[in-house]
Amino acid sequence: MIPDKAPREDVYLVHDLKKESHVPSFEKYKELYLKSVENPTEFWGDVAKGYFWKSKHTGPFLDYNFDVTKGKVYVKFMDGATTNICYNLLDRNIHEKKLGDKVAFFWEGNEPGDELKITYRELLQRVCKLANVLKSLGVKKGDRISIYMPMIVELVVAMLACARIGAVHSIVFAGFSAESLSERILDSQCSLLITADGFYRGDKLISLKVIADDALEKCKEKNFSIQKCIMLKHLSKECSAPSPALGSQSPPAKRTCPNLQQERKETVKKARPLPQIPWNPEVDLCWHTLVEDASDECDPEWCESEDPLFILYTSGSTGKPKGVLHTISGYMLYTACTFKYVFDYQPQDVYWCTADIGWITGHSYITYGPLANGATSVLFEGLPTYPDVSRMWEIVDKYRVTKFYTAPTAIRMLMKFGDEPVRRFTRKSLKVLGTVGEPINPEAWLWYYNVVGEKRCPVVDTFWQTETGGHVLTPLPAATPLKPGSATFPFFGVVPAILNESGEELEGPNEGYLVFKQPWPGVMRTVYGNQERFETTYFKKFPGYYVTGDGCRRDKDGYLWITGRIDDMLNVSGHLLSTAEVESALVEHEAVAEAAVVSHPHPVKGESLYCFVTLKDGCEYGAALEAELKKKVREKIGAIATPDYMQNAPALPKTRSGKIMRRVLRKIARNERDLGDVSTLADSTVIEQLFQNRCCTV
Ligand code: WT7
Repeated sequence: MIPDKAPREDVYLVHDLKKESHVPSFEKYKELYLKSVENPTEFWGDVAKGYFWKSKHTGPFLDYNFDVTKGKVYVKFMDGATTNICYNLLDRNIHEKKLGDKVAFFWEGNEPGDELKITYRELLQRVCKLANVLKSLGVKKGDRISIYMPMIVELVVAMLACARIGAVHSIVFAGFSAESLSERILDSQCSLLITADGFYRGDKLISLKVIADDALEKCKEKNFSIQKCIMLKHLSKECSAPSPALGSQSPPAKRTCPNLQQERKETVKKARPLPQIPWNPEVDLCWHTLVEDASDECDPEWCESEDPLFILYTSGSTGKPKGVLHTISGYMLYTACTFKYVFDYQPQDVYWCTADIGWITGHSYITYGPLANGATSVLFEGLPTYPDVSRMWEIVDKYRVTKFYTAPTAIRMLMKFGDEPVRRFTRKSLKVLGTVGEPINPEAWLWYYNVVGEKRCPVVDTFWQTETGGHVLTPLPAATPLKPGSATFPFFGVVPAILNESGEELEGPNEGYLVFKQPWPGVMRTVYGNQERFETTYFKKFPGYYVTGDGCRRDKDGYLWITGRIDDMLNVSGHLLSTAEVESALVEHEAVAEAAVVSHPHPVKGESLYCFVTLKDGCEYGAALEAELKKKVREKIGAIATPDYMQNAPALPKTRSGKIMRRVLRKIARNERDLGDVSTLADSTVIEQLFQNRCCTV
């Protein structure tokens, strides 16, 4: 499966990292990989030795069933062992590793100059205070807590406070609507909500508390009441709640809050309007008042390995989001181990992942993985384009970031503005660049590698899912020769296979369904409250395998290339095509910034390609360009892939996490106005524009 020798031609391999790397050669990777899959107990057992266990596992180290035809699907790692993940992330690093004074996070606010830092010791104190508050409010092990917060240190504090007392966090991305928040609170029956007054994303104010209240109203309509809502004041430092204007009889005197935000160094002050905060004294509690008198010591709750750690919702093909459930020990070992190897973590690193903690990338690679390793991270509240398109590189220089992790959509967006905004900063601290979220087209990969990393930094294209908990296909920076656009090879413990429609494993160069043959510690355990949906979604189509839903191609050198979701695959005259392939061809044209391709019904070919194309600033759309683009695709893939329809798309419909909503584009292409659930859409004005620009009448 893994070749003995990595190819020597057409690949990128940066040698600078080899001296300090954990895995300095392809041979070493292969040796460790084989050990990990042939003897997972020994491999993960060694990883587990680095962590604290209150008591040993009582069952087998690994126990699982992936075959629905043989009964219930389950995965158990170190079953019965007791531990606490918060203890491992904080107390262990402070006491055993002496990292108490090390910075855990450099927080960089939306406004340049608005910043603070927090050490491991301070973080533990904050976590303990909030954990004690939660306990005093009656929160018990196993209770679900909904968290709806901006990208601030208190979001990490809230997650770890839950983990410390064995409560299960369910974080809802702070860009989601009231409807989505209420749906998620209801599904997991959360007893408590933690939120903030609001925050600014660029120039835009998001009034979180107003939205949260709306969500709680919607829950009430469904006969469900949350008991308490804790609100953090983030926008203003003064605690005026409960507000006299909105309810309370005797407002407490205004006073400065004893919270982290108070320590922010605000060199740039903008006159921003503060939102009116609605306040319901029966439900709402002020974070600052609560933590003020709470003790900063809190014994961890010793939990079992397979106790739930968190629920995180991900969209499902049926429209209703699925509550992906992860459990404590396996997730801890896996996020810690992938973080260490994939970013080749070294103690002096400053690591920055630009994702939001509201998504799995932030859970695994802002909170759990980096803290488990005792790393220093940047936590960024703002946008890559605010106040200007150099912001990312400015932050890289400011904190001397060594390992940087972002999404292809961000890279493509910044690419539109050319090299100059990047070159304004040195970026000389950078050592490893990562991407995640969708297939990265070679053009964006090369720009990232050549311009951002100046050919010094390997690009690790990490393929994984909310469900996988951590990276499953990925290069290791000093070991794997890179091919732009390929997620290369499996991580330790992961055994991928490519299946055809009849479920047969395909060997050699081939293309088909990407599946995994055995569990790794970080794989999801179930869909919260719906084991049947878990089995149907991931295990029914090909019994014995975990089905990713993604297509994958293996090239002659054994490299794996994700071709996009299977539902984004299309069959043109009997040929299987991936929309991602066509998009990649289109964006190679110098006028194209971004492209999205969907399947469109065709009377003769079965399906055909409908392409939405966003041009770079200053480029003109017209028939000549269309002809060039069709030629480009034909040249790149073949005549079979020649697009039938092409449309100018000044902007594409995207989720707030930056994923193109191809489901919506398919409807637009078909002129179907019933778009289904579009609550995750970032900007709904895009839709009407696209309907008006439609290019075909079928
Ligand atoms: C889907 C999972 C994993 C964190 C963010 C997304 C796509 C993700 C890659 C990659 C090609 C990728 C897949 C996958 N995807 N990373 N490196 N190359 N595709 O998590 O929302 O659960 O989405 O994102 O289609 O199935 P998610």
